[in-house]
Amino acid sequence: MELVVATKNSKKLREIKDLIKERSLKMTSLSDYPEAPRIIENGDTFKENAIKKAVKISRYAGCLTLGEDSGLCIEALKGEPGVRSSRFSGKNKSDLANNHKVLRLMEEVPPGSRKAFYVCAVALADCGRLLSVKEGKCYGVIASKQRGSSGFGYDPLFIIPGYGKTFAQLGEGVKHRISHRYHAMKQMREVIKKYIEKQRDS
Ligand code: IMP
Repeated sequence: MELVVATKNSKKLREIKDLIKERSLKMTSLSDYPEAPRIIENGDTFKENAIKKAVKISRYAGCLTLGEDSGLCIEALKGEPGVRSSRFSGKNKSDLANNHKVLRLMEEVPPGSRKAFYVCAVALADCGRLLSVKEGKCYGVIASKQRGSSGFGYDPLFIIPGYGKTFAQLGEGVKHRISHRYHAMKQMREVIKKYIEKQRDS
């Protein structure tokens, strides 16, 4: 059975593939569907955007599809960048520019007030029909400068208090055991397994 992951972000895709680990699935992505309709991520919540991606792409591809929307919410910035995480520094987004903008806005914020969390919403749909939505979170603190080179996005700024290191320093071994994506995918993995079994039995 095929599972399309509705993303073009190769680093995100790698993390999702690693977390789903379902051998019976052939996992593809939007790179395998270059003509797929463009998804406008204009929802007010991560869940809304994830559902939109899953439903629209599954209808187009005619198979099981996973829509994922994620981002960083910073307390001192009233939840920003939030659903605008990928385009925080403007349309011609880059991870580096986004991180610089966060650091600039947080310049005056003292160490005790730099709490943040990542959110990951995942939605599963088949042929245009929504099957399930799950969400995971991961709590941390925003660093005063970028540290480390692993991961992507805001990882060089996101310190995990228990380790005193950023996700970019800790690497995927740790990230994949505690991240927002791990917590969301752990729940969705069970839904996918049951769905595959049901399809096999019918
Ligand atoms: P999306 O592709 O619209 O879901 O955008 C997600 C954006 O949120 C990414 O471009 C990153 O800026 C940020 N983000 C989401 N998950 C992570 C993560 O695991 N590490 C770092 N940044 C993340």
